[in-house]
Amino acid sequence: MVRAGRHVVVIGGTKGLGFEVAKACVRQGARVTITGRDEAYAKARASELGELATGAECELTDWDSLERLFENMDVVDHLVLTALDRDFNTIKDFRPDDCARTSLMKTVGYATAVHKALPKFSDDASVVMFSGLSMWRPVPGSTTISMANAGIIGLVNSLAVEIPPVRVNAITPGVVTGTAAVDGADQVRSDWFEAMRQRTPAKRLPTAEDITASVMLLLDCPGINGANLVVDAGMHLA
Ligand SMILES: NC(=O)c1ccc[n+]([C@@H]2O[C@H](COP(=O)([O-])OP(=O)(O)OC[C@H]3O[C@@H](n4cnc5c(N)ncnc54)[C@H](OP(=O)(O)O)[C@@H]3O)[C@@H](O)[C@H]2O)c1
Repeated sequence: MVRAGRHVVVIGGTKGLGFEVAKACVRQGARVTITGRDEAYAKARASELGELATGAECELTDWDSLERLFENMDVVDHLVLTALDRDFNTIKDFRPDDCARTSLMKTVGYATAVHKALPKFSDDASVVMFSGLSMWRPVPGSTTISMANAGIIGLVNSLAVEIPPVRVNAITPGVVTGTAAVDGADQVRSDWFEAMRQRTPAKRLPTAEDITASVMLLLDCPGINGANLVVDAGMHLA
């Protein structure tokens, strides 16, 4: 649970899992700022969440944009970093520029966001960063994302030691039903996801509700710090 009145910033909150997390926080009575790369779109998405939500522009590869995001905030109680600019890449047909764009936003961009938020964190603030199971169980085309997701775990370990009392945790979802990763998948990835679903213990993949409930726990439980919570319905055992 996130307490009523707390301020939650969700970078990448305009869509997918970030939007679901924002929705859950508003349901608990928290104030939420959701961000995307387009200000008008972010504001429109925020208006769907009601008066407790605000939309703002944030581009994770633009440090000035991150500065602007946090400079006018009074306080940040919880920061959720979920943004992803997907790159499907393989070493055989490697496109280094595409890999660099995604790697930059998901590693240096996440770290810079925490750096810019530092002066605004409350004493019992917490950060949750999204990694992904592809770091251990690569998906066809996941070369870039596997690498970036692994980087998130190193970053979380470092920050949990560097910025106490702020707590920093990672969530590592498996393939999540009903998200852009699944709905936008080509045939090769769709077949791979279905094969993985069949091999999970209960023949089910995690849902957005599973991920949201887990993020809420990481945000609010004072005893969890420097953790990586794997929420994959047992996919890592398959
Ligand atoms: N979905 C899955 O099955 C799955 C599995 C494992 C891990 N994950 C992880 O979960 C997270 C969320 O995934 P999702 O499927 O919910 O993503 P999504 O629906 O594609 O949403 C991505 C979000 O990131 C924002 N964004 C994209 N590029 C950005 C940039 N350069 N700077 C700032 N914001 C940017 C987008 O905002 P705008 O488009 O409005 O700009 C959007 O709000 C990701 O980190 C992903 O690695 C997901």
